[in-house]
Amino acid sequence: MSTTADPLRAHTSASPGATRDAAPRTLAQAADLTRAPELTGNTGGRFGSYGGAVLPPPLVGPMQEVADAYEEARHDEGFYAEYVRLLRDYVGRPSAISPADRLSDALGGARIHLKREDLNHTGAHKINHTIGEALLARRMDKRTLIAETGAGQHGVALATAAALVGLECEIHMGAVDVAKQRPNVVRMRLLGAKVVSVEVGQKTLKEAVDSAFGVYAADPERYLFAIGSVVGPAPFPDLVRDFQSVVGRESRAQFLAAHGRLPDAVIACVGGGSNAIGAFTAYLEDADVRLIGVEPGGHGEETGQHAATMTFGRPGMLHGMETLVLQDADDEPAAVHSIASGLDYPGVGPQHVHLRDLGRVEYEKVGDEAVLEAFQQLSRTEGIIPALESAHALAHAIRLAPTLPPETNLLVNLSGRGDKDIDYVAERIGMTGEADEIVG
Ligand SMILES: Cc1ncc(COP(=O)(O)O)c(C=O)c1O
Repeated sequence: MSTTADPLRAHTSASPGATRDAAPRTLAQAADLTRAPELTGNTGGRFGSYGGAVLPPPLVGPMQEVADAYEEARHDEGFYAEYVRLLRDYVGRPSAISPADRLSDALGGARIHLKREDLNHTGAHKINHTIGEALLARRMDKRTLIAETGAGQHGVALATAAALVGLECEIHMGAVDVAKQRPNVVRMRLLGAKVVSVEVGQKTLKEAVDSAFGVYAADPERYLFAIGSVVGPAPFPDLVRDFQSVVGRESRAQFLAAHGRLPDAVIACVGGGSNAIGAFTAYLEDADVRLIGVEPGGHGEETGQHAATMTFGRPGMLHGMETLVLQDADDEPAAVHSIASGLDYPGVGPQHVHLRDLGRVEYEKVGDEAVLEAFQQLSRTEGIIPALESAHALAHAIRLAPTLPPETNLLVNLSGRGDKDIDYVAERIGMTGEADEIVG
């Protein structure tokens, strides 16, 4: 297949705005913009010492089948054309970048800008990769999409994509999250998905992954395991990153067009790490752009009080990948806590660990209280209620902005909207659903 403008070559230009925006014709061209193998990995799913596919023998063949099908799809112009069409006509991409002027004025210092993934259909970035996964499942003649979900955003996005493409969908969710994220459970069921509540262990995201993986392993002919982040065995960290890379690709072009320069920092929250890797990928070779991942610091530094894997994790194995894992004294995945269900995970995508080791991405953590503050501050100053997950990235930007000069631009990836979180937050901050004043 030939392309007139070679976007893979174009990115090496010294000028940040030069030919990089040439339209890619395949996902491989779109997602490999940086062509920096030392940063992106891409050698059999390994990222330095991390990643890979550590699988029980019965799953080696099925996972290879997924890897082969994906490799074909990412070079297929027809596949990419359909994906791009759905992102535009169904998801509503490109998502906007909004300057958060009232928030920035209130803080002083750097200016904060928001990449509005909350405006996507279903209200978060997850739809970017679930559409891709659904198209891949259909291409592979699979009948059912199966996955885990934490906050319910991936589950809703997957159920949506399944409905769109005409596939069955089965979502496993920890019982704690089922209770906490009830509106999303109802949404998934309305969309025709089967929701399985997982009542073992901590009853959160890790157990949901285990459970979905078990069902998948029993019948890989029927299912595509449509994992919800840049985690799991190869090829998923690559596959999910490639579908999410549209976020950074868009924001880079939008920011350049609006400001004639790149942002000074891109900031994103990190659970498994899909929105962050999507936001970062297009900037990996822009050495002057700081890339900052923000993890959930929870309410303390003791095991079980946070889910800050990059800060406290140790090398280990989780869900078919080698990565950093929060572990207890017996080297088992530890109990985790975050105010945001979608960040409640004891592992992290292997590419993030690699990018940290290379010094290309910085990782910070913020605690629950700062997140609650950021959630309310954005709602009141900008009229945008963020997801609690995204409020982690925002809280770090709020902390950073006053320490930086006013000509600095911080781009926060607002990965999702907070509708799903309002009941929980209202209870936490003691806000009732009653009116402020009664007349008559
Ligand atoms: C809005 C939102 N942001 C972020 C995340 C965290 O996932 P990831 O780190 O893969 O982006 C989730 C997970 O459910 C989410 O719903």
